[in-house]
Amino acid sequence: MSVPKAELHLHIEGTLEPELAFALAERNGAELPFASVQELHDAYRFEDLQSFLDLYYRLTDVLRTERDFTELAEAYLVRASAAGVRHAEIFFDPQAHTSRGVPFATVIDGLWAALRDSERRYGISTKLILCFLRDLSAESALETLSAAEPYLDRIVAVGLDSAEVGHPPAKFAAVYRRARELGLRAVAHAGEEGPASYVAEALDVLGVERIDHGIRVLEDPALVERLVRERIPLTVCPFSNVRLRVIDKLTDHPLRLMLELGLVATVNSDDPAYFGGYVQENLDGVRDALGLSDEHLRTLARNSFEASFIDERTRARYLGEVEAYRF
Ligand code: HPA
Ligand code: ZN
Repeated sequence: MSVPKAELHLHIEGTLEPELAFALAERNGAELPFASVQELHDAYRFEDLQSFLDLYYRLTDVLRTERDFTELAEAYLVRASAAGVRHAEIFFDPQAHTSRGVPFATVIDGLWAALRDSERRYGISTKLILCFLRDLSAESALETLSAAEPYLDRIVAVGLDSAEVGHPPAKFAAVYRRARELGLRAVAHAGEEGPASYVAEALDVLGVERIDHGIRVLEDPALVERLVRERIPLTVCPFSNVRLRVIDKLTDHPLRLMLELGLVATVNSDDPAYFGGYVQENLDGVRDALGLSDEHLRTLARNSFEASFIDERTRARYLGEVEAYRF
């Protein structure tokens, strides 16, 4: 058994394992530029965020039908359940699909078929976070939000992902304002490859309640102080940071420092099929690399539920499970 936890930074498209990618390619008659599962695995060497995104978007081409999205989400839930995940807030990238001619409804209906009953089938409560691709236009983000309006009961928040540098949060001020008018919560990737100032801008201009990645805040001590004071959570993804060369190696990761500074840091897997592990592997990895104690690990689990968009009764129940857990 592993400690009960919430996963708050997980791109469902990033859970596409090579084996499933090949199976879906065959079923759908889609071409993959790799001869074998092994060759695809070998392509998982990235220079930076963009080199990863190029492959990530290329592989989404195998996802075409509702059934494909359902199978993708079910495969994640099986793994997450085995890793002690009790609650997951799952990103999806509609524009990665609508831009290829796959309707928004196909994506969300397919995902929903797996998620609607996830608590009963997998013991995991789930919510969806709709991400806008920040390297596309603000108009495209607004169109995507319009397409989502009939489905707002399935979506808890909006997020912002894809190529960060050169696409500051303020570009999306209007769509975030509209999302908040519609009753959605708000998060954004910031301070992954982009500067600490993007973190402040996401808070001040977009009104986000949680920052995805955010590790570059450490370059701005006044901003760190603010995040500690306001208890703004950061969804940190250690394996992702190493694979995308945001940091050199796991033993250099600032997670332990972040906890010791009092930041509400959580550990997440980001794109586990690409980065070498799911959330429990990330936790085991940082525990070993950084010498984290059981109390550090309990704090991370507690933080994950504190940072979740769940109702207070559910939060209290999950926090009780964390306190009762024996490492
Ligand atoms: N950063 C930005 N965009 C992404 C990521 C990420 O880590 N994963 C999938 N899209
Ligand atoms: Zn991410």
